[in-house]
This record gives sequence, C-alpha cells and structure tokens, in this order.
Amino acid sequence: MKRIAIIINAYSRLPHSLNQSARLKEEFAKLGAAADVIKNGQAAARIENGNVAAALAGYDACVYLDKDKYLSAMLEKAGMRLFDRHAAVEACDDKMTTFIALAGHGIPVPDTLPAPLCYDADAAPSAALLDAAERAFGYPMIVKESYGSLGRGVYRAVDRKQLEELEEKLKLLPHLFQRYISESAGRDLRVITIGGRCVAAMERRNEGDFRSNIELGGKGTPASIPDEAKRVCEKAAELLGLDYCGTDILLSKDGPLLCEVNSNAFFGGIESVTGVNIAKKYAQHVLCAID
Ligand SMILES: Nc1ncnc2c1ncn2[C@@H]1O[C@H](COP(=O)(O)OP(=O)(O)OP(=O)(O)O)[C@@H](O)[C@H]1O
Ligand SMILES: [Mg+2]
Repeated sequence: MKRIAIIINAYSRLPHSLNQSARLKEEFAKLGAAADVIKNGQAAARIENGNVAAALAGYDACVYLDKDKYLSAMLEKAGMRLFDRHAAVEACDDKMTTFIALAGHGIPVPDTLPAPLCYDADAAPSAALLDAAERAFGYPMIVKESYGSLGRGVYRAVDRKQLEELEEKLKLLPHLFQRYISESAGRDLRVITIGGRCVAAMERRNEGDFRSNIELGGKGTPASIPDEAKRVCEKAAELLGLDYCGTDILLSKDGPLLCEVNSNAFFGGIESVTGVNIAKKYAQHVLCAID
C-alpha cells in the first residue's frame, strides 16, 4: 500500500485549507493508499552534521500543500517526491518570478514592471519609478504585492496621489506595477490543471470589486475553457513544472492573459461549482506518477 504525506502549513486554520487536506486523504483512501495530514514543523526535517536529516521516512510521496520553501527544499534533498515540486512552488509563490519564468515562451500576460526592492524604511518613494509606471500604464493602474494572496495584496491606483500612497505603503515589500485590464474588471477564469491537462474551469464574477476572488465576494459559475486559454494554462504548467495548479486568466479584448498561477489553489469552491472531483483526479495523478 502506498503511503502519502500531505503537508499543510504549521499555522493552517482556514477551513478551505483544512478541507483540502481532508478531501485528498479521503480520495487517497478510496484509491487504496494511506495518507496522513502532517503540519509543517512536525515533519522534523533539519540540517544535522552538514546533511539533511531523513524526514518522513516510510512515505512514498508528499503532497505539499504548504508554500514554505525551506521544508520543500529539504524534503527533496532527502529524496522525497513532492507534488508540487519545490522549484514549482517557489516560482509560483512570487508573481514576478512567475512572469520572468514564463517570459519568452509565448504566454500572454499583462505588461508588468517590478518595483526595485527597497531596504530603507526612511527612503521616499522614487519619483522616477512612479513616472515610469505612469508612462507605461496610465490610470487606473494595478499595483500588486508579489507574495499577495486571496486578492488582499492587489490594489488599483486611479491617480498619482493614490500611486504615491501605495508606494509608501508597499515599498519594503516586493511588489509590481501592471497594466489594468479594464474589460476583465471583476471577472476572470479560474482553471485547474492536473498532470498537464486542464480539468475544470469556473468563471468568477464580482459585482462589488474589480478583484474576482471568491474570498472578496466573487461568485463562481461553471465555464468552458476557450482553446487559447487552455493552451496558456497547459503550457504554463509545463514550463513551471507543476503537477497541480490553479491559473487565473484575465479576459482581455485581445484574448486571454495569464494573471497568476497558484501552486496550492484551493479546490473546494471549484469542486462544488463544477461538480468535478478535483481531489480524486489529483490523487490519481500522484499515485500514477509514483507507480
Ligand atoms: N492586471 C489586472 N487587471 C485587471 N484585474 C486584475 C489584474 N490583476 C489582477 N486582477 C484582479 O484581481 C484578482 C486578484 O489578482 P491575483 O490573482 O493576481 O492575486 P491573488 O488572487 O491575490 O493572488 P493569490 O492567488 O496568490 O492569492 C484577479 O483574480 C483579477 O480579478
Ligand atoms: Mg488569484
């Protein structure tokens, strides 16, 4: 019998997160595999005598639902097969890193300018930087934390004053400026890709906010995936080396644009909207890959 470790964050309390691991455990059991949900911190990976001390001995694979890059790197060094792999999780965690990895491979994304990293809390926002962002994108302009999540780190500046205020607020955090895709305001496609194939999609619409995130009031409905969006999602998963991901697609007048790729996308919402058993498909993929 295959044994699978499902790693979740040490501080996980969100019902979505706990439900995700419970659903996967359930589907692994139905497929005849034993899965244990283990919190990061209980996985006991450490550096000892200059080596990674063996962690999770006895498991055949690990479904890594955390984003903590230290444990994922150590588990891989100890020989564990991770779903998703360390490099893929790390590339998706930082939105700017994702865009850089995908650049040059025919993946359309909104034009994006990274803010230089700032280490000086007393430094004033750079006028030259804001001028450059303004010239490139005009207003409204998207300003986004590179490590934001659930829509909370995504802002829209409508004029220079707001841009300056946002820059002051975010200057010590990695962040980026981006063209605002007004046609897609409050609306996008969330697509789940497993083993290189799109398996489910929902349209998310939010009447009260330009961010379509369900956590911010967006409502999901089942959607078909236009061919070009499908190509973009599958190619991005391949380039980033992802076994599983949720990709956000903006619907611009010129076609689909990849907004971001989530290695640990919650699947509870899309399962109930589309009726697709995502947990089963992911568990099947894992067991097939390690067979
Ligand atoms: N350039 C853009 N133009 C128009 N709308 C955007 C743009 N970027 C983001 N949005 C809207 O904001 C939402 C949230 O943005 P994004 O997916 O980049 O971050 P996030 O969901 O906070 O990140 P994470 O999934 O890591 O939690 C998108 O789903 C989309 O509705
Ligand atoms: Mg998103």
